[in-house]
Amino acid sequence: MKIRVDLRKNVDDSYDVEIGELSKKHFKKACIVTNPTVSGLHLEYLKSKISADELCVAMVPDGEEYKNMGTIEQILSVCFENRLDRSSYLIAFGGGVIGDMTGFAASIYERGCNFIQIPTTLLACVDASVGGKTGVNNKYGKNLVGAFYQPKGVYIDPHFFETLPAREFAAGVAEIVKMAVMFDKEFFGFLQNADLAGDKEALLKAVAKSVELKASVVTQDEKEHGVRAVLNYGHTFAHVIESETNYTGFLHGEAVAIGMVMANTLALKLGKISADDAKRVKELLEKYSLPTTYKIKDAESFYDKFFLDKKTKEGTIKFIIPSGIGSYEIIKDTPKNIVMEVLNEFLA
Ligand code: NAD
Ligand code: GLY
Repeated sequence: MKIRVDLRKNVDDSYDVEIGELSKKHFKKACIVTNPTVSGLHLEYLKSKISADELCVAMVPDGEEYKNMGTIEQILSVCFENRLDRSSYLIAFGGGVIGDMTGFAASIYERGCNFIQIPTTLLACVDASVGGKTGVNNKYGKNLVGAFYQPKGVYIDPHFFETLPAREFAAGVAEIVKMAVMFDKEFFGFLQNADLAGDKEALLKAVAKSVELKASVVTQDEKEHGVRAVLNYGHTFAHVIESETNYTGFLHGEAVAIGMVMANTLALKLGKISADDAKRVKELLEKYSLPTTYKIKDAESFYDKFFLDKKTKEGTIKFIIPSGIGSYEIIKDTPKNIVMEVLNEFLA
């Protein structure tokens, strides 16, 4: 005898990303998840926009080193103590670290409650807050525990950019450049001519375009079975650089900038892009004072670390490379000697 548990689904998890001054919102029960840095600068502003019949704040320490299960327990405890239920809202108020943790806490709190994203870094606005990747790090690596869990809405208010340190701003620009190189030649041209740090209108256009591109990728491939992997352009190299520097040498966006230059070197070797295109990408990154080189001490050991990445499936490294500006190729089975030639170009 066989009884089928029929779980074919027809769910609509669609949501809007609103860009512009945060409009007033009211909730029945909500918990703002934030850290002392962001709350010190902006909690008062947020509270002038957000109200609730019952509102609490889960204050967690600032930093990637606290993106772990211990902090998730802290967030859940605040939710239990304040008797939130499954119809309540967690409000992620901070950068990508806060966004990823809040989303994950929401995905498991009483088997799932609502959450919204109010990102306060440029990187979180253009990448992390959209698409529902949530999670934490553990001793085995970054973002290895988590869930795909979509927010009910994302609210991007440029007011928060005013207090961003220059390096954090540039790290966000790296992810914007990534989107342009992979998907949109015209957007890349716009970025070449724009001054995102000095021109607020240009910055808003770039944020909106990046979100539009990311939304389109996530719509096509929510759980990263295909095109979503393209968002990892530069990341295969970046993850090794971040691990070799104990996650303290570079901000994530900075490591991605170097990783994109390394991926372009591979693309050049494989004849996929022109030297001129590679130069244009490097120059755009340099315009925002992003690092574009890294001194590899041991190329063999750098190569071996590719296999620690969760995206390196069954021993095959997957590289995302541009095939010109605005288009991409996903390549597997790149001969080791070609990859080593790339790494040797970055030897200390
Ligand atoms: P972050 O969250 O650590 O924020 C960087 C620093 O800026 C922190 O000290 C933070 O407190 C501070 N900060 C935040 N907003 C500020 C503001 N308005 N003014 C001044 N300081 C402010 O780092 P991040 O770059 O935003 O995010 C990186 C994290 O995002 C990583 O953990 C990464 O794994 C994750 N990420 C997730 C996705 C995804 O799709 N879920 C995508 C990219 C990155
Ligand atoms: N930042 C990569 C992704 O959202 O898939």
